[in-house]
Amino acid sequence: MRYLGNKTRLLGFIRRVLRARGIWSGVAVDPFSGTASVARALKRWGFTVAAGDIMEYGYVLARAAVAVSDAPAVGALASHLRLRHPGLPAVLRHLNRLPPRPAFIHEHYSPAGHAGALAGRMYFTPDNAARIDAVRTALHDWRAARLVDDDAHDLLLAALIEAADRVANTTGVYAAFVKSWQPNALRPLTLRLPPSPAGPRGCAYRADALTLVRARPGCELLYLDPPYNNRQYAGYYHIPEVLALGWFDGPVPLRGKTGLIADAHKRSDWSSSRRCEAALEELVAAADCRHIVMSYNAEGLIPEPTIERVLRAAGRRASYRRYRRSYRRYRSDADSETRRYRGDLVDEYLYCVDRA
Ligand SMILES: C[S@@+](CC[C@H](N)C(=O)[O-])C[C@H]1O[C@@H](n2cnc3c(N)ncnc32)[C@H](O)[C@@H]1O
Repeated sequence: MRYLGNKTRLLGFIRRVLRARGIWSGVAVDPFSGTASVARALKRWGFTVAAGDIMEYGYVLARAAVAVSDAPAVGALASHLRLRHPGLPAVLRHLNRLPPRPAFIHEHYSPAGHAGALAGRMYFTPDNAARIDAVRTALHDWRAARLVDDDAHDLLLAALIEAADRVANTTGVYAAFVKSWQPNALRPLTLRLPPSPAGPRGCAYRADALTLVRARPGCELLYLDPPYNNRQYAGYYHIPEVLALGWFDGPVPLRGKTGLIADAHKRSDWSSSRRCEAALEELVAAADCRHIVMSYNAEGLIPEPTIERVLRAAGRRASYRRYRRSYRRYRSDADSETRRYRGDLVDEYLYCVDRA
């Protein structure tokens, strides 16, 4: 998924650093799991992963990556739908063939719905929006009728969130839509099952990082990948959040040109210049683990001397080390009056300390 801070391209770097520091297995806590790219890789590398995020879509993606069973039961659903093959791939094919069924996404996030047209919202073509609606509604109905269990439901919902992102008419974040259709937006919505790696089954949480860290003492690895700038994920990814939450429990008030949902409780201290340093101090003080590994960007809000001071104080001072990797930056916005990128390459750091 296109995502600010997605570490897919840094997995090799992360793995090399973990090996160099002798961190091989055990419980790994990833409380800022986002797309679950690192959580999924940690599972594949043999860790038992506890992954969490403040966002509901993060929870769904983490469930699909580390917490669901290998082969969730869909027998009841397959016979209800009269599918010839009773497995998840057949259910996915069924979802991919559902006829469009205009509902919330069509109404609010495509130019064909009344509200979307008023606001000029061009996040999805009308056809893709109505197909997203059809799939999301089917998943809701199947769960309500107990035709799918939570594992199958969350795997399919994760597939929908990722599929919708592939056809979203954005430059990678939902803070704005593009005013003309981009080639990816014109492709038909197609769900694919998220890769489900072999490895120990873990758990997923929708929680503030501090709550999760306090709830999982005694772990081998605490992997931290907090937001590093002042862009709030709640505002930048509100449409994946709508898809994860659904719109079936009553009216969902929307505001603004982009159709934001209520998000005051999901605004993060880590994206606040005034509060991020205290958030780091508090989280590290609460950590009960053998190793802390923190991803952070060279352009991040927390100054490097602060990170070094906090981590050294939390562990064996001499074990502290910073590892660096340069990579091509992910540009979600063009340069503007308020945002100037500094070149095409950006440094990504891993700050590590051992506590025992
Ligand atoms: C840099 S991204 C993580 C990216 C992730 N490692 C990946 O590869 O996709 C930071 C994540 O932290 C989440 N987040 C922000 N504040 C949080 C908080 N206080 N507690 C838990 N998660 C938070 C955001 O929703 C976002 O998904």
